[in-house]
Amino acid sequence: MTSTGRDFSTIGVIGLGTMGAGIAEVFARNGYQVVGVELTEESLERGRQHVQHSTDRAVKRGKLSEDEQTALVGAITFTTNIADAKDCQLVVEAIVEQLPVKQALFRTLDGIVAPDAILATNTSSLSVTEISTATSRPGRVVGLHFFNPAPVQNLVEIIRTVVTEPDVLDDVAALARSLDKTPVICGDKAGFIANALLFGYLNHAVAMYEAHYASREDIDAAMRFGCGYPMGPLALLDLIGLDTAYEILDTMYKQGRDRLHAPAPILKQMVTAGMLGRKTGRGFYTYEAPDSPVVV
Ligand code: NAI
Repeated sequence: MTSTGRDFSTIGVIGLGTMGAGIAEVFARNGYQVVGVELTEESLERGRQHVQHSTDRAVKRGKLSEDEQTALVGAITFTTNIADAKDCQLVVEAIVEQLPVKQALFRTLDGIVAPDAILATNTSSLSVTEISTATSRPGRVVGLHFFNPAPVQNLVEIIRTVVTEPDVLDDVAALARSLDKTPVICGDKAGFIANALLFGYLNHAVAMYEAHYASREDIDAAMRFGCGYPMGPLALLDLIGLDTAYEILDTMYKQGRDRLHAPAPILKQMVTAGMLGRKTGRGFYTYEAPDSPVVV
């Protein structure tokens, strides 16, 4: 370990949407002070409500006492002023998945936090290296990829670029462990570890279905009952959304040129036809109502 023992007592989280609100909750629940930054008062309030509702559910399930909930929410400073993150030794970005927008934010953050502070991105598919070049400190920029929902999923992927400093990785991995998460470290390639493997597998299942090699039910049953997966690949794709799955595969294919990730043609056809999965009521299966588990 080359950890420098950075003071992570206060952590910045930029963007309090689906992921950022969950990430802020995870830090606050584990004893950290959080500066949560949003663009507008309206989106800030949405972020606050997200944390409130998520912790309400934890209280109902008996996983959090009401006092703990009050302390947790109180540990998050909700603000629209990004300069409030100036004393943070780590800032985690979870804003929209657009490179120019993320680069502009990193440029701003670079001018706000101390020179030795770490800037992390929760990006799912963008190049961490390209984001890091917007700063004067590419060696102290990492990917910190939480899974959805962040308070529940245990994995955190830490993405190192070719210039990430070793002590930065050590510090961030130690921090992830302090959140009771399992950190894994990998290089800067779309899909990182989990999605690169998962989406290659899902795509292969679609190709099997497309070739009439086996029925949708038999493909899914094979993986559930033969491999112990909680869901079959085609049912899982319906849950993720076929449009989202297509975009993820396409990005990985364009970056890595691995045939495994070349989207199966039928995926694009289904997206074009509006068969996006559960959210539109029809994908590989037909659902009586969006989000209904009933398959007809
Ligand atoms: P989201 O759209 O729910 O939230 C983004 C939030 O960022 C919005 O509330 C928006 O107001 C705010 N925002 C935008 N620009 C901002 C700025 N300059 N300053 C402060 N706040 C700003 O998006 P979501 O789903 O939370 O995704 C965020 C990031 O996390 C993306 O990079 C995405 O790829 C990644 N991610 C998403 C996962 C998911 O399942 N949704 C899973 C893992 C990573």
